[in-house]
Amino acid sequence: MRVAENLLGLIGRTPMVTLNRINPVKGVRLLAKLEYFNPGGSVKDRIGIAMVEAAERAGKLKPGDWIVEPTSGNTGVGLCIAAILKGYRVVFTMPDKVSPEKIDLLKAYGAEVVVCPTAVAPEDPESYYSVAKKIAQERPAFLPNQYENSANTEAHYRATGPEIWEQTDGKLEAFIAGVGTGGTISGIGRFLKEKNAQIKIIGADPEGSMIYTEFYKLPRNVHTYLIEGIGEDIIPGTLDFKVIDEIVRVYDKESYAMARELAQKEAILTGSSGGAALVAALRCAEKIRRGTLVVLIPDTGRQYLSKVYSERWLRENGLV
Ligand SMILES: Cc1ncc(COP(=O)(O)O)c(C=O)c1O
Repeated sequence: MRVAENLLGLIGRTPMVTLNRINPVKGVRLLAKLEYFNPGGSVKDRIGIAMVEAAERAGKLKPGDWIVEPTSGNTGVGLCIAAILKGYRVVFTMPDKVSPEKIDLLKAYGAEVVVCPTAVAPEDPESYYSVAKKIAQERPAFLPNQYENSANTEAHYRATGPEIWEQTDGKLEAFIAGVGTGGTISGIGRFLKEKNAQIKIIGADPEGSMIYTEFYKLPRNVHTYLIEGIGEDIIPGTLDFKVIDEIVRVYDKESYAMARELAQKEAILTGSSGGAALVAALRCAEKIRRGTLVVLIPDTGRQYLSKVYSERWLRENGLV
């Protein structure tokens, strides 16, 4: 067995598994890329170190500096791992809709966390985007800004995409993932399209987010929703619509239900964004009827025990 120098050496090369029980379409081989096998528990470990090393190369980050980021949690963990092992301090701003476990998790890594209201416009001075910018002006700090940082998309173009290509021997009809910053789908999508332009790249977007309406040039209808980690009220620079064939609109209720079904049928625990991606993947399976689909499961359900896996919370939020 290989021994890693430190935790950074264990990021990536995540496993893929066949979903036999949850997929009703016999002609479709549905594969899940399990990103919770990353050492911080999510796909965002990949971009934490990628953005930090890109900043070091550009001279934007000096030893002892602060790293400041608005994040719904997972990117925070990825940045913590990189920061701890490379000697930086971290402060995060988060919207108040995220699960308490996610906030405690970042504090466990020694990070400072500022919780901000969810229901304000991004340009509002109280929003978690604005508060992060303000903090970055007050300290010797680097703001990775995963929404505009090309190292985000690049990390997936260089590693996650090639892993998927290799694990399937290049034999796949479609790749499906939730869209937040769009780094995951855009980087993987670009790589797979360069290998084979026929591969369909499909994004899942929560109803209430503006990605679906922007993609199809429909009237904007933005409101809050309960799915965590995906969907946007801005169009991030890291999102490349050119490599995306289709955006599937997904709803809170079906996404939460799908995450729970995945746990019970396949023993795979994920959050509402993993559930959302799977809803989109199963819709795609119904449509294509045969071939191989790869769906990306971004993180683990262990950090949503008080939401996705709480009967009471689901009932209180009208999700059952
Ligand atoms: C839980 C979860 N799923 C999916 C995503 C989407 O990934 P990306 O930002 O690369 O589009 C995120 C992004 O923050 C996330 O936190």
